Amino acid sequence: MNDPFGIPETVLVLGATSEIATDMAVTLADNGAQRFILAARSVDKLDELDRRITDKGAEVAARVTFDATDLDSHRSLIDGIWSDHGRVDLVLVAFGLLDTAVADGSVSPTDIAMVNYVGAVSLIEPVAEKMVGQGDGVIAVLSSVAAERPRGSNRLYASAKAGLDSYARGLGDALEPKGVRVLVIRPGFVHTRMTEGLQPAPLSVHPPAVSDALMKGLTGKRSVVWAPPPVRVLMSVLRHLPTGLYRRVTKGR
Ligand SMILES: NC(=O)c1ccc[n+]([C@@H]2O[C@H](COP(=O)([O-])OP(=O)(O)OC[C@H]3O[C@@H](n4cnc5c(N)ncnc54)[C@H](OP(=O)(O)O)[C@@H]3O)[C@@H](O)[C@H]2O)c1
Repeated sequence: MNDPFGIPETVLVLGATSEIATDMAVTLADNGAQRFILAARSVDKLDELDRRITDKGAEVAARVTFDATDLDSHRSLIDGIWSDHGRVDLVLVAFGLLDTAVADGSVSPTDIAMVNYVGAVSLIEPVAEKMVGQGDGVIAVLSSVAAERPRGSNRLYASAKAGLDSYARGLGDALEPKGVRVLVIRPGFVHTRMTEGLQPAPLSVHPPAVSDALMKGLTGKRSVVWAPPPVRVLMSVLRHLPTGLYRRVTKGR
């Protein structure tokens, strides 16, 4: 159950090895969240996060293995979590892949759409059903400012995030009368493993700024929050620039 200040008791983190998710989980534990279910591709990478959560006085109730591309496993994964833990108050959807992963040769272009959009929808749908069943809950979705307007270099990621962002906002509209909130978080450039080696964009931040946006979202009423807040203004300018000017402004990025 969320406390009167919007702090969840039990949190499921999908993509718990993400640097942003790690900071969010520790911040939530610091603010009173009591129980965490950490889901990741490699649960053996979660020792450090487990220790940091435990140090804050919260409990890691389970570590669960999942892959966003393994669509057939998602419903039973979510069923299993609800059946083992009874209820979940907040689900953080934090996994993602940038176009640079394709350049590395480790994934294909369609994997970017699969992970960021198809995999996310495939997991969020059964989560939404469970939360409607329990009558409340929050689904916090890591979108991106890239959802607002793509660049040539991030077209796979940006288009998938645009789909995810649109899906999440529509889901929020559908679930609001049923007591379930969907919170869309749109970070700008965040210094993490995902952006390592890339030229930082204006208003770049570190993961705690995204955790601040999450906390503001949980304790407030907005359905979309930005990190840092001024990227909202920057993106409202950028998304309306004529194509030629936009290409010049974003050249080399
Ligand atoms: N960094 C930014 O500038 C930025 C800006 C806006 C939005 N975001 C979004 O914020 C979220 C977290 O990003 P981050 O910066 O913290 O990046 P990160 O540290 O690279 O984390 C990415 C996460 O995605 C997971 N992942 C990738 N493919 C997966 C798959 N097939 N199945 C399950 N998990 C998978 C990774 O797991 P492994 O550890 O197993 O690789 C990792 O946990 C992402 O949704 C990202 O798109 C980031």
